Amino acid sequence: MKILILGVNGFIGNSLAARILKDTDWEIYGMDIRADKIANCLSNERFHFVEGDISINKEWIEYHVKKCDIVMPLVAIATPATYVREPLKVFELDFEENLKIVRLCVKYNKRLLFPSTSEVYGMCNDPEFNEDESPLVLGPIRKQRWIYSASKQLLDRVIWAYGFQHGLRFTLFRPFNWIGPKLDELTSDPEKEGSSRVVTQFISSLLLGEPIRLVDGGNQKRCFTYIDDGIDCLMKIIEDKNNNCNGEIFNIGNPNNEATVKELAHKLKKIFKEHPSTKNIKKESEIIEVFSREFYGEGYQDINRRVPSIKKAEKLLGWKPKVDLDTALKKTLEYYLETALKNSC
Ligand code: UGA
Repeated sequence: MKILILGVNGFIGNSLAARILKDTDWEIYGMDIRADKIANCLSNERFHFVEGDISINKEWIEYHVKKCDIVMPLVAIATPATYVREPLKVFELDFEENLKIVRLCVKYNKRLLFPSTSEVYGMCNDPEFNEDESPLVLGPIRKQRWIYSASKQLLDRVIWAYGFQHGLRFTLFRPFNWIGPKLDELTSDPEKEGSSRVVTQFISSLLLGEPIRLVDGGNQKRCFTYIDDGIDCLMKIIEDKNNNCNGEIFNIGNPNNEATVKELAHKLKKIFKEHPSTKNIKKESEIIEVFSREFYGEGYQDINRRVPSIKKAEKLLGWKPKVDLDTALKKTLEYYLETALKNSC
């Protein structure tokens, strides 16, 4: 099998590529603007990588869509601070560029595995979100945070319509706050404040001994999913052994790993303090509260609770997440500590 992964150096892409090379005999064709996270894959003869931008390398992409069996366009901006600060950039990349890839899959009759998002459910009040039943609830237009959700939702609908009208073979998957090694870059640059997702933001603060900031009190909840569990599920979708993934949407999340952002902060701080390699770090991060309008800007609005229903993935794929929250946080922190220590040597 030949699989095309655009954005192969991203958080999901790099981990999926490593798993495919380890466990299968498939060929991967990949493109990304960077290659730092896939350093270990580059020497594998089944890994064919080109460094480049998907909005520029049109011919390469079309040629490889034609050549491959499965297409996974994983290129997207996925950080809420960017939705608020540069909404057009999010629309152009996440929607416009990805629509071109979707249309190539239609043109060449290729199977498309597309990353939707937990964010499409928005401020839905359902106690757990169901892929086929839950309403998708977004805020007003001037709350620009929703441009990501709206872009992804419209693409979900377009892909669905291509399936319905043109027989496009597709599966949509919705990751729920996946965390793990190589999630986002750590940053000490105040200009980039808030530009990574919450777990990496808190780890950056802990390493720098700077305050951990709870947006609007930190009572909002998320279900955190360890990357290896997410990749297990993606592998099952790619393999599609029971031939039942076509036209389906799958939530991929861990409903047992629900925590408030405040709980997350305290857990990470504790794990950090207890880790042997941090005993010489004298400056301790305090946990403080900040207003979202100061942290992200006026265009931000939050989601108070989002729990995935994973019944469909259990039933059709026989998949269940295994890694509990404390283990997921430990493994994630461990990776960043190792990287930080290596860089300081
Ligand atoms: C994320 C992103 O939109 C995408 O990565 C993705 O599609 C999706 O959700 C997902 O991973 O499921 P969100 O969960 O809001 O959205 O992203 P985070 O930046 O990780 O924030 C989580 C919560 O922590 C938010 O309530 C945010 O306000 C809060 N936060 C974030 C803080 O309290 N302090 C911080 O320093 C950063």
